[in-house]
Amino acid sequence: MNPKTDKPLSIIDLWAMKRKGEKIACLTAYDASFCAVIDKVGVEIVLVGDSLGMVVQGHNTTLPVTIEQMVYHSQCADRARLRAFLIADLPFMTYSTPEQAAKNATQLMQKGGAQMVKLEGAKFDCVSFLVNCGIPVCGHLGLLPQSIHQIGAYSMQGKLTEDALKIRDDALQLQKAGASLLVLECLPAALAKEISQELTIPVIGIGAGVDCDGQVLVLYDMLDVGIVKRPRFSKNFMASCNGIEEAIKAYYLAVKNSEFPAPEHSF
Ligand code: KIV
Repeated sequence: MNPKTDKPLSIIDLWAMKRKGEKIACLTAYDASFCAVIDKVGVEIVLVGDSLGMVVQGHNTTLPVTIEQMVYHSQCADRARLRAFLIADLPFMTYSTPEQAAKNATQLMQKGGAQMVKLEGAKFDCVSFLVNCGIPVCGHLGLLPQSIHQIGAYSMQGKLTEDALKIRDDALQLQKAGASLLVLECLPAALAKEISQELTIPVIGIGAGVDCDGQVLVLYDMLDVGIVKRPRFSKNFMASCNGIEEAIKAYYLAVKNSEFPAPEHSF
């Protein structure tokens, strides 16, 4: 494959990958240089995550990130991509009503170049409103970093049966509300597998086992740079590689071959 000559990916390509059982690789990026490398390697999705609040800005949580900052970083990433599909996060308290969600998602798409926006939690009303406005949405369930002060710790979710049932039901409802993709963060692998099999939309896991339709990692974690301690579910791909491009390629191939995440990166 030569990603440079391949046409830009659309949601249709990602849906087709799920149907064919082809794993989808996703990484976060917040600037043009890293986005260019990720795109060159062939990673299908670049996520401009609000994790930038922690790994770029040095905050303890993602809460301080603003919509203006998300637009700025999306623009930076968007300029460098030729093929990868671009998703940008709606940050904390920018989607507390459907109307507010639509206003902020419009900024990410019109100014930031995002092809889809991601929001955390069981916000069915926001999802269906955005989708009715023509704005594609990626849901995010399991560990919700924007709710850190409600949950108290960055830890595995869905341990109790009732929690697992709720997450599974929320996933189905998000799909019904029109979500095009779903991120599952920090869940038991068996639960994430069940949800991935049940949903027709692609499910991208982070700390959710190998049986999701794709995987996402925070770029700085997998390159082992920075001030944030790498979570147990991530992996230092730089350890056995000679450079950043090689490490991203190793991640891409490990996702494609279902070699990552290994059991030690799963719950
Ligand atoms: O903000 C982010 O980078 C994310 C990923 C961890 C999925 O939401």
